[in-house]
Amino acid sequence: MHIERVDPLDLDLDTADALAEVFTASERADGPDLPVRTGPDLLTALQLGSDSRPVTALWVARDGDRVVAQATADLPWRDNTDRADVHVRVHPDVRGRGVGGDLWRTALSFVDGAGRSRLHSGAWVGSPGVAVLERWGLTRTSRGVIRRLDVHATPRSTWDRLYVEALGHAGDYELLRQVGRTPADRVEAMVELHASMNDAPRSDADDEPDRWDAQRLGDYEGAMAGRRQTLYRVMARHRGTGEWAGQSMLAFNEFSPSSAFQEDTTVVRAHRGHRLGLLMKATMLAWITEERPELATVDTWNDATNHHMIAINERLGSTVVATRQGFRADR
Ligand SMILES: CC(C)(COP(=O)(O)OP(=O)(O)OC[C@H]1O[C@@H](n2cnc3c(N)ncnc32)[C@H](O)[C@@H]1OP(=O)(O)O)[C@@H](O)C(=O)NCCC(=O)NCCS
Repeated sequence: MHIERVDPLDLDLDTADALAEVFTASERADGPDLPVRTGPDLLTALQLGSDSRPVTALWVARDGDRVVAQATADLPWRDNTDRADVHVRVHPDVRGRGVGGDLWRTALSFVDGAGRSRLHSGAWVGSPGVAVLERWGLTRTSRGVIRRLDVHATPRSTWDRLYVEALGHAGDYELLRQVGRTPADRVEAMVELHASMNDAPRSDADDEPDRWDAQRLGDYEGAMAGRRQTLYRVMARHRGTGEWAGQSMLAFNEFSPSSAFQEDTTVVRAHRGHRLGLLMKATMLAWITEERPELATVDTWNDATNHHMIAINERLGSTVVATRQGFRADR
């Protein structure tokens, strides 16, 4: 067994395919019924992340020629520069033989060398990773829950009915749609909409707010385009003042067009209480299923304490498919 640090920008598609196989086998063993990762999906995610930059460090473990595990360490650089996120994933065939521990220690010495004091990781509830992270001395933080909407199993009338219900409270607002990058004359408003996500529950009370500006928006949208994640947005605007009141975003995975992932849904504080979250999401579902009939599932991630958003997702027809336990250690 040997571990090699690989520059994500040098990663080739064969290795990415093998890493995707480790992901898929690992998730099958651990329970969560998540969409299968493909090599191109993983390759572009490692190279572009969510801000057009590669993951900070990547290690690949091989048994002979066979890729059996990976570890990543990501160091935020715009904000939260005291934090590091480390993830280790070992193929179920070779677990319990020390590979996970070796990768963990390798990643940790990198993180310590970079002077990061808050270490974050996580594992699926019901998988061995929870006990292993506790054994490694981390403490539990928040839980994230993935819910799935099976769009074929949910009658379209569900969303139509919820749309009409929400509209009854949101008559002062108009909805707009956008596919892909934000046009220049809307960038300032979009930056504000992204920043308004900062009062959603966070994984760590010590996290600073994400600082949004035009550069960050461009980096995010560029990364999603490079990862072949087409961004669909429904935005709400107040008719009287023209103020932007909220947005809901869906990332449609062109590599695996049967699955989409819900990105941010946010309503600006001054415009809450008008059922805009429900209105935008019901509109999105009616639109995306019409526009992309190949879509079968929409997955969404919520902090377990985000009761308002969870209630909306459940009314739309989503059900729980996986729960992730967050962990933290102070270095
Ligand atoms: C968690 C994971 C990385 C462990 O990989 P592994 O190769 O089996 O780990 P190791 O063999 O090095 O074992 C690591 C330690 O955990 C212990 N351990 C392993 N499996 C365990 C289990 N099911 N329950 C409790 N402890 C366990 C080992 O005894 C070892 O302890 P030690 O360091 O005191 O000797 C692997 O199960 C995995 O990939 N899970 C899915 C991804 C995940 O949950 N990652 C979480 C960490 S980021």
